[in-house]
Amino acid sequence: MLALRNVTKSYGSITALSGVSLNIGPGEFFGLLGPNGAGKSTLMSLVSGLRTPDSGSIELAGQPVTGSSFSVRRNLGLVPQTIALFPELTAEENLRIFGGLQGLRGNLLKAALDDAFSAAQLDDRRHSLVKTFSGGMQRRLNLVAALLHRPKLLLCDEPTVGVDPQSRNAIFEHLQHLNRTGVTIIYSTHYMEEAERLCSRIGIIDHGSILALGTLDDLLTRLPFEDEITFPVTALTAPLAVELASAGEIIAVDGTHRFRPRPGYPLSVFFALTESLGLPPRLFVNQRPTLEALFLHLTGRKLRDV
Ligand SMILES: Nc1ncnc2c1ncn2[C@@H]1O[C@H](COP(=O)(O)OP(=O)(O)OP(=O)(O)O)[C@@H](O)[C@H]1O
Ligand SMILES: [Mg+2]
Repeated sequence: MLALRNVTKSYGSITALSGVSLNIGPGEFFGLLGPNGAGKSTLMSLVSGLRTPDSGSIELAGQPVTGSSFSVRRNLGLVPQTIALFPELTAEENLRIFGGLQGLRGNLLKAALDDAFSAAQLDDRRHSLVKTFSGGMQRRLNLVAALLHRPKLLLCDEPTVGVDPQSRNAIFEHLQHLNRTGVTIIYSTHYMEEAERLCSRIGIIDHGSILALGTLDDLLTRLPFEDEITFPVTALTAPLAVELASAGEIIAVDGTHRFRPRPGYPLSVFFALTESLGLPPRLFVNQRPTLEALFLHLTGRKLRDV
């Protein structure tokens, strides 16, 4: 459905995307996971035709996006990272403008507006000024504004930033519903929990390059360890450190230690050891490896605060 080949984009001396190749099939819910400045919004703006790549190609349903006609881009909706609404107009006046830009008139526009307000759960606020909306309500309106013309591909650029949990769930459910009805979604985020929960395939992006690509399970098998036991720094007594030195790797993250056993090391040995040292079992938590751990492994940095 969407094919990027060797796409590069710079802003002056800053390379925002570097040789990105990516194929997205119809019906996918694709996650683009990366920290601030990774290149997520740049990729969205190139795919939506708002910007032009310096080199490489982008095709939507076999047609080039760059310099394309409205007929190519009308299959696509973009939910921008920055809320793009007119605060001094009512919600309905805003959607009428977006619907008009998407080529809707008359009964088609009316039906699209009704559907949009119902999906955004904002029926009772149609005639309120957008500036009176909460952040979450504005995000919900920003989302449906991109959907009035029923695009086949929806690009969502960090659509839950600054949103309360209730609106966040409403947005997730709306997107999952759209995806079930056949809409292909590309969803950018720096929250690994969102990518894990929503996306059938995930690309990890950093410094303008896709570092890893696959389903959650595919990605997690790239980690060279299967278990990760977190425990407080104070629990790492000298005898434990000596014993664990040959059993795997210990790293310090967020004021805790994490023990990653080498493949084949039996965890029963670890737990017998801690017990013999009189350390309470509740101090040691075995976590499933996460995308956070993969990002750390691939880049040496954490996803959140870079
Ligand atoms: N208009 C611009 N002019 C100059 N540099 C830009 C511009 N837009 C983005 N950049 C730079 O390009 C790189 C990628 O930015 P981009 O906005 O695509 O990242 P992002 O992954 O969306 O980040 P965030 O999570 O903060 O939204 C960054 O180094 C950024 O500073
Ligand atoms: Mg961005």
